[in-house]
Amino acid sequence: MTIQELLKKKSEGKKITMLTAYDYPFARMVDEAGIDIVLVGDSVAMVVQGLENTLPVTMDEMIYHTRMARRGVANALVVGDMPFLSYQVSAEEAVRNAGRFIKEGGAHAVKVEGGMEAVPVVQAFTRAEIPVMAHIGLTPHAVHRMGFKVQGRGDKAAARLMEEARALEEAGAFAAVIEAVPMELAGRITETLAIPTIGIGAGPRVDGQVLVLHDVLGLFERFLPRFAKRYANLREEGMRAIRAFREEVEKGEFPSEKESFK
Ligand code: KIV
Repeated sequence: MTIQELLKKKSEGKKITMLTAYDYPFARMVDEAGIDIVLVGDSVAMVVQGLENTLPVTMDEMIYHTRMARRGVANALVVGDMPFLSYQVSAEEAVRNAGRFIKEGGAHAVKVEGGMEAVPVVQAFTRAEIPVMAHIGLTPHAVHRMGFKVQGRGDKAAARLMEEARALEEAGAFAAVIEAVPMELAGRITETLAIPTIGIGAGPRVDGQVLVLHDVLGLFERFLPRFAKRYANLREEGMRAIRAFREEVEKGEFPSEKESFK
């Protein structure tokens, strides 16, 4: 998958798919299933590291996860998610950190959260030939300001979101994630932009959809956002297998002759 192919998909009205993955086995599954984009999301902080929000995850941890996930991908576009404070301090530091995702992590592109404040960073990445995906609407790095609430409700907020989307496209973003935004507004932004929009909690009138893999597979039990959908319950299946192992060991049934050497 390339950025050009994503643009072609938009122009042909074909839906784009994106899922998160943070390591080799899951990235391999996502890639083999034909998903267009593997996002090494900073949601790793919550669904893998067990943290309350995405703020504490570090650049070094994100690079580690990107390298693992990249090894499992043969076809998809790999996007590394820039963690909190890795791109907000200065454009120079942002470019250096984004460059690490490409050089050390093997990512094809990076993602940054934010509206107007992210425009100079997107411009700097574009000048440095680092493809960048924008992320507007509910931006989890701003959790302490905006909470986990739907964004863009009301005329003023909707107009601002539209303005941000246009400015980020103009700055050079190749796609934009739109999170937790009323579907009518997400649809209007999608019609206005030439670049693909990828929704999460933004309804069906966008160019593609993204979800957190651990929600899709039922591996994260703490909560399921209203906009997410569980397509499997691997936690239940995993618990069944782990309990079966425990019981067999305790009863002396495992290992049998079959799993032993003569
Ligand atoms: O970190 C992440 O997984 C994300 C997606 C929810 C878009 O940013």
